[in-house]
Amino acid sequence: TMTTQIRCLISAGPTREWIDPVRFISNPSSGKMGYALAEEAVSRGFEVYLVSGPVSLQPPTGAEVIKVESAQEMQEAMFRLFDQASLVIMAAAVSDHRPSHCSRQKIKKSDFPNSLELVPNNDVVASLVGGRRPGQTIVGFAAETENLLEHARQKLEAKDLDWIAANDVSSDEHGFQSDFNDVTLLSKSEETIPLGRKSKSEIAKKILDYVWP
Ligand code: PMT
Repeated sequence: TMTTQIRCLISAGPTREWIDPVRFISNPSSGKMGYALAEEAVSRGFEVYLVSGPVSLQPPTGAEVIKVESAQEMQEAMFRLFDQASLVIMAAAVSDHRPSHCSRQKIKKSDFPNSLELVPNNDVVASLVGGRRPGQTIVGFAAETENLLEHARQKLEAKDLDWIAANDVSSDEHGFQSDFNDVTLLSKSEETIPLGRKSKSEIAKKILDYVWP
């Protein structure tokens, strides 16, 4: 007999917003959290699609990896794979802004402007939620340096997510690039579940235990 696999769509890593062919705006995301979630989802028998910004990690065995660079490319890939996914986890650190213009040639140092004009990127996960179908579970992350739970709760509500992983990035001891995260899981139904400071693979297990029991 055939068993139907649950399809899981995960984003990971940073985006790059190019200024010219040699410069971009980005952030320190290593992809470790998203890749740990993908590995854990594979080990639970999910069919896993991992949309990944530029990172230097080995692709998780058994996952389909889709490499992207900009927030716009990440959005395209997420939209293409969204309909077929039952569980969507947005662990990527998407740049909120991009330069209004990307120069085709390297900008000469002497011509480089003192300020860059930026335009907002679309909110990928909020747009996905806007087109959701019944039965889909959508999980976001909130990387915060202060008022962790309050800010995370605001994002959960503003983006209308089912769950958000409130992620303390105020210390070098965990968060961006580290092997550890310190996460509290918040649900739409107002649960607050401290997962504690743990390795990203342990955090991934806990998150999946709660969001897809
Ligand atoms: O990659 P690592 O080094 O392992 O680090 C892990 C991590 C810190 C990147 C990750 O665990 C994390 O917290 N990811 C979310 C980082 C972030 O961008 O948070 P945010 O609070 O800015 O965004 C809130 C949510 O909206 C996130 O799910 C984000 O993916 C999403 N978003 C944000 C902006 C945007 N334009 N589109 C989005 O979909």
